[in-house]
Formats: sequence, C-alpha cells, structure tokens
Amino acid sequence: MEYTFPVTRTTNPKPRPADETKLGFANYFTDHMFVMDYDEGQGWHDGRVVPHAPFLIEPACMVLHYAQMMFEGMKAYRTPDGHIQIFRPDMNIARMKRTNERMCMPELPGDLFMAALKAVIKEDMDWVPSAPGTALYIRPFIFGDEVSFSVLPAKHYKFMIILSPVGSYYASNDGGLNTARIYVSDNYIRAARGGTGYAKVGGNYGNAMRASEDAMKVHCKDVLWLDAHDNKYVEEIGTSNAFFRINDEIITASLESGTILPGITRDSVIQLCKKWGLKVTEGKLSIDEITEASKNGTLQEIFASGTAAVISPIGCLHYKGVDYPVGDEKVGPVAQKLYDTLYGIQTGTVPDDMGWTVRLF
Ligand code: COI
Repeated sequence: MEYTFPVTRTTNPKPRPADETKLGFANYFTDHMFVMDYDEGQGWHDGRVVPHAPFLIEPACMVLHYAQMMFEGMKAYRTPDGHIQIFRPDMNIARMKRTNERMCMPELPGDLFMAALKAVIKEDMDWVPSAPGTALYIRPFIFGDEVSFSVLPAKHYKFMIILSPVGSYYASNDGGLNTARIYVSDNYIRAARGGTGYAKVGGNYGNAMRASEDAMKVHCKDVLWLDAHDNKYVEEIGTSNAFFRINDEIITASLESGTILPGITRDSVIQLCKKWGLKVTEGKLSIDEITEASKNGTLQEIFASGTAAVISPIGCLHYKGVDYPVGDEKVGPVAQKLYDTLYGIQTGTVPDDMGWTVRLF
C-alpha cells in the first residue's frame, strides 16, 4: 500500500549541535516528529509529520497509569557519499509485532512503519551526523491514550517517531572504544519466564533503575542481570545484550527463556562471528563460571551489544563486592573487529555482503 502523510514544517528550525563529536545520547532532538492515531473500529489513521514539540495529554490517559506502551530503537547513518541508510529494519518490524502482541496493542503494518520512518527522516535529513561513531537515533513508540482507569487494553493509541543525533550510549571521550565497569545485580531481577523480558517495553527499563543506582554507587556504568529463577545465569546488560569470550568460545544467553531482548545487534554479532569461523554458543553461562574464568585467566572478553550501545567492551565485573578483571581490561580483538565491521557496514565504509542496510535517500 502507498502511504502519503501531510507535513507541517517548523517555522522555527533549531540550531544544529555545535560539535558532532560531543553529541552524547539523546541530548538533542530534530525539528520534526511523526504522529498517527489508532481508534478501535477505524484502525490507524491521520498519520502526519509535524514540528517536534510537547503535546497535550489527558492526565487520565491509560499509559500514564498502566504503562501500556512499546518502543523501538533504530539508527540512520550517513554514508561517505552522502546517502542515508538504516540497518535491518525488518528485524525491528518483526520485534514490534511481537511486543504489540504481548502488550495487547494493535498491529502496525510494516509498510506503514517504513513509510512513516521515511516521511519524518526526509524532513530532518540534514540532522543525520557524519562524525565517527555518530548516527541519527530513531525512537518509534506506541502508547495507549484512551482516557480510562479500566485495566483493559486501550481502544485508542498514538504511534510516534522522534529523532535524535547521537554518539554511542556508553560514549568514550574520543569517539573510540573504551572499557566499562559493570555491576552484577544479585538482589534485583529484570525479567522472569512469562513476563515481558523479550518485549521492548518501558517497564523493563523503569524496573531496572533501582539496580542501576546500586551500580553507580560502585562506579559501574550499568548492570549485568542474572536469571530470575536461580539468580545464577547471566542474561543481559542494562540496555544491551551480553557476550562472553572464554577459552575462545563466544557465549551469549539464549532467547529460549523469553527473558532476553532479541537484539538486532545481538543477531548480527552472532552471524558475523559464525561467518568468521568463531565458535558461538547461545546457552546458559553461570556467574560462577565467569568469576572462575577471570581468576584462572580464561576470561578473554566481555562486551555488550545494542543499537544504542553498538559494541561496548567491558573491562571489569563487580560482583558481591569483588572486582573481577576481564582479560587485560583493555578493548578485546573480537569486540574491536565487531565494532569496526558493524559500524562500517552501517555507515557504508565496509561492503555490506550480508545485505543488512536499506538505503532511504
Ligand atoms: C536501543 O539500543 O535502541 C535501546 O532501546 C536502548 C535504550 C534503552 C537506550
């Protein structure tokens, strides 16, 4: 189906960030946003591109009380020849479908999603940064905005897309890779079987903030979660999936439990590592195996993967008051190669022989 959306251009364009190398994460928002409504019986309607601005919301609207919402995270990249491309949007569309189903929210057709994305990025194309390590972060989200206190799926929703020029989520000062310290939480959990761990919903992140505060107190950047059942097996890191290289085997938690976010970068890391002939295992890995590997020198690398985090190497784990170094605490060779390859494919400086990029303009 062909979609066209009316555009109301801003009359007051914002100044562009002065220094693309100091964007940080979501400190700036572009001039426009996409908005569309859903009504039961009518479906999705009235898609439009409008100036990015605060909007009115009824205090009794459902999302503010019962958190019926979802979001996605994607990036648009500027290639050296000035084109704008995105990365594996089919994966975001498929995950959005699973999240919406879990949250009893209406399905948003993939072609409508892509048309909306294109329409809003077209207006703000010149906001896509080109400095090393940067991208235009795309945040699509849907929330129930029916006025009701019934704990039932809303009958009215909004779908929106907002855009922000960003650096990496765990930015280093020089745009390159640095290692981070990570706190292993043994008293809070992120997700349990049957819960919303695999879905991209705000509650997964709001629920994590208490443990993040504990992490900050011991100078760690984020939290490595353990499973809810045994409080023993590693799951994921804060805003990203987690990979462990022990004795030349790369291990990450499997998606089978339904408690792990099926990251698009996670899938890309697995595919690239397999293509390079590395041994990759999706399965259970206990925190005790990891601390033991740190002690006996077989823990070579840990890194986080995510759209926002890209590839973020971990230099040290802090668990039950003890620091466990990872390798020589420097950026490991697999993390570095993955970062260079992935970001290279995304920005068009490395040939995309996986067919992952989609050129928008
Ligand atoms: C992303 O990587 O796009 C995310 O959604 C993580 C975000 C919570 C910062």
